[in-house]
Amino acid sequence: MIAPRYGMHKDDLRTTLDNDEYRQERDRSGMFRLVQSFPDQCREALQIAKSYDPGPRATAVRSVLVTGLGGSAIGGDMLRAVAAPHSDVPILVNRDYSLPAFAGPDTLVIAVSYSGNTEETLAAYDVARQRRARMVCITSGGELLRCAEADHVPAVRVPGGQPPRASTGYLFFPMLSVLERSGVLDRSLQGDAQETVDLMQELAEAYGPRTGFDENEAKQIAASLFGSVPVIYGTQDYAGVAALRWKTQINENAKAHAFAGTFPEINHNEILAWEECRRQARRWTVVFLRDANEESDAPRMARRVAVTRRLIGRKAAQVEVRSRGASLMARLFSLVYLGDFASCYLALLYGVDPTVIRGIDRLKAELARLKQS
Ligand code: F6R
Repeated sequence: MIAPRYGMHKDDLRTTLDNDEYRQERDRSGMFRLVQSFPDQCREALQIAKSYDPGPRATAVRSVLVTGLGGSAIGGDMLRAVAAPHSDVPILVNRDYSLPAFAGPDTLVIAVSYSGNTEETLAAYDVARQRRARMVCITSGGELLRCAEADHVPAVRVPGGQPPRASTGYLFFPMLSVLERSGVLDRSLQGDAQETVDLMQELAEAYGPRTGFDENEAKQIAASLFGSVPVIYGTQDYAGVAALRWKTQINENAKAHAFAGTFPEINHNEILAWEECRRQARRWTVVFLRDANEESDAPRMARRVAVTRRLIGRKAAQVEVRSRGASLMARLFSLVYLGDFASCYLALLYGVDPTVIRGIDRLKAELARLKQS
């Protein structure tokens, strides 16, 4: 079977996405298996998280800074979204070589790098050490683990050998446990974690390859995104985090451009870009990631979304997705998980292996070579 082309009839896209042989041929490195087994990963991560020992508490934590990049950093964004309503100290995510000036002895710095070899995270780790910050590392190994062991910095070690972006469970749940045990949260979120894992288990089947196109929201979304520029809007803070995750998953899995934004901010700038969007590209698809109870819980937001949808009108195809679950954590993960699957199906439509990230690998190798010369 050949890779689909834009302009193909929806029936052909349906046939492609329901074809198991075609999927296995493209998904040579097994991304679908990893995405499908995400609930197991979360369960394992919850067990691993219990091993974290915060040690004696020297100073009270006055701020939390998660430092990391890419698939490791997004776990920090998810943590911030879920933990902020339960914390009276700020929780921020840092994606750089250095740390903001406020980071000091009363900052809890969580250095997270799945591989343990990301140079920006290693540099930020050094800065945190110099500033005498309270520190924890989350990693599967590499240089970060080596440094943590040498410096007696507590580290949570998670299983390695898979792409960082497919390891969000391994990275998120230990970080959550670190916050709980450091006294940053006003209550335990373990009940929410359990609800989240149970919901993921249900969705793994609903969005998985065995569920046919007509019943499978993830496959249908991939077909809508195919051949167009995806713009993902989250209609509340947590949904904005999910939108960013969709964007990066489409970038890395489908090797395609995508853009992400959050309401209400996009109403103050990006809304104008729709006026002449067709001068930039002919086909656009907007995905609105919305809370299931938005109309009753956030009516002002719901009104904004309705007006925005009217303003965009027929300039872009519009797709709406609603969160599932009760807790904030479950709702966030439900949106993220749908995007993870949809980006993998989009990779199939573009005929690429979702796992392979040649560009990132080459960039990292080139930077390492330049560092040595
Ligand atoms: C690859 C991926 C990347 C990495 C990033 C940082 O799957 O998601 O975005 O996460 O290059 O690498 P780590 O996570 O190993 O620090």
